[in-house]
Amino acid sequence: MLRKINQVLLGGILCLSFVACNSVQKASNPVTEKTTMYQPIKVHTPKRAAGQKDVVNLVTPKLETVRVGFIGLGMRGPSAVQRFMHIPGAKVTALCDIRPERVEKAQTILEKAGVEKAATYSGSEDAWKALCERDDVDLVYIVTDWKSHVPMALYAMEKGKHVAIEVPGAMTMEEIWSLIDMAEKKRLHCMMLENCVYDYFELTSLNMAQQGLFGEIVHAEGSYIHALDDFWTAYWNNWRLDYNAKHRGDVYPTHGMGPACQALDIHRGDKMNYLVSFDTKPFKGKKLYEKVTGKSGDDFQNGDHTMTMIKTEKGKTMQIQHNVMTPRPYSRMYQLTGTKGFANKYPTEGYTVEPENVSKDDVPNHENLSSHGFVPKEAKEALMKKYKHRIHIELEEKAKQVGGHGGMDFIMDYRLVYCLRNGLPLDMDVYDLAEWSCLVPLSKISLENGSAPVEIPDFTRGAWNKIKEYRHAFAD
Ligand SMILES: NC(=O)c1ccc[n+]([C@@H]2O[C@H](COP(=O)([O-])OP(=O)(O)OC[C@H]3O[C@@H](n4cnc5c(N)ncnc54)[C@H](O)[C@@H]3O)[C@@H](O)[C@H]2O)c1
Repeated sequence: MLRKINQVLLGGILCLSFVACNSVQKASNPVTEKTTMYQPIKVHTPKRAAGQKDVVNLVTPKLETVRVGFIGLGMRGPSAVQRFMHIPGAKVTALCDIRPERVEKAQTILEKAGVEKAATYSGSEDAWKALCERDDVDLVYIVTDWKSHVPMALYAMEKGKHVAIEVPGAMTMEEIWSLIDMAEKKRLHCMMLENCVYDYFELTSLNMAQQGLFGEIVHAEGSYIHALDDFWTAYWNNWRLDYNAKHRGDVYPTHGMGPACQALDIHRGDKMNYLVSFDTKPFKGKKLYEKVTGKSGDDFQNGDHTMTMIKTEKGKTMQIQHNVMTPRPYSRMYQLTGTKGFANKYPTEGYTVEPENVSKDDVPNHENLSSHGFVPKEAKEALMKKYKHRIHIELEEKAKQVGGHGGMDFIMDYRLVYCLRNGLPLDMDVYDLAEWSCLVPLSKISLENGSAPVEIPDFTRGAWNKIKEYRHAFAD
């Protein structure tokens, strides 16, 4: 009897303690019950058409001369035309802007350079179509406002031309997929003109990363932090402020994304899986809009500061920021964190490397290296010299002469022409365009859903692991 009572008591105690444990567990870890809530929001991935293949590492027939037609000759376009005057094997054959005076001004660049005049197009919204139809254009170079990039690029590819598009390449998921599908269908290059991947510190650091100086890169950061106060009123038809007024999210992510994704080998061995975004209210944006347009800014959408975090398939992370509103020193943040080292560009440019991971012969003051501080100035200089990228070794001097954001714009254009002339894969393909631009629509979805995780599709539709590392192509 006593034994029975004991059994019942013990059972009761066990049962009670189970309930108690369970309720304690529930209270301290409510997530276990609701895991499914945190599945990323799915976005649609359209099926690849039958017979259509990916364009990873696409090569196209060599072009002896790359004949270029430019669309958009506002603030940015003419400097591109100017740079093409210095690129061997390139010829500017056509120029277009809706405003005739912009075309005439760009034509004087050709006259001054002593080269043949280009055919000109202007005066109507779709004058650019005739440029895309010309037989003497191999590459259509698009430097217009964000909303017109994709219709122009699609039409140009439809007419059999390679395209180069200013940043961001596309602004919606539909636009991104339409570019991918057209490039795959036509087997043509569709490159986004992301210049920041060629800047000196970024490309040198990429070379260091690729040669293992930082161990395995586990985290990368980038941003576009640039108070645009001096520029807002200079854009054609106020397109940039208008876009910010109507769209929440990181609307200009590619300067940060490009160098970060290259260092993480995105769609060359790793892929981005999902993102989450946070933004502030448009404290300054609203007032700026009212000042510039005289209209109410109550419905201004773009937060003054937007932050996005990304997780990759291999378990790595990225952080990307956007702020074009508040007064701050310019920053693209650029940062690489590796298991054996670190690179940082803004506000302090420097490296951290584990002493064991660098030879005493390679850096002076080797004894001053540590894993918790920047390497001394002389060591930084020695490392930057040793790891100077082949592209910079070949082009730095000329790039500094020609200019364009200190030379990186020239290197971008030169590499584009060099790869087309040598039948090589371009440094940036249509999937880079998609991955770096997709923060525009996907950060918006996250923000409008309480910063929920949002899936980042595999834009290669299965080919992200075909190539194992990101590398530039060379003819020899
Ligand atoms: N990579 C960089 O560092 C960098 C720097 C600045 C600008 N950008 C990009 O360059 C692009 C252009 O910027 P911007 O500052 O020169 O702007 P902008 O407003 O000065 O120039 C846009 C030009 O496009 C022309 N245009 C508009 N619609 C047209 C049409 N239907 N047909 C022909 N021409 C048309 C306008 O007349 C204008 O001259 C944007 O995508 C921007 O994001 C990139």
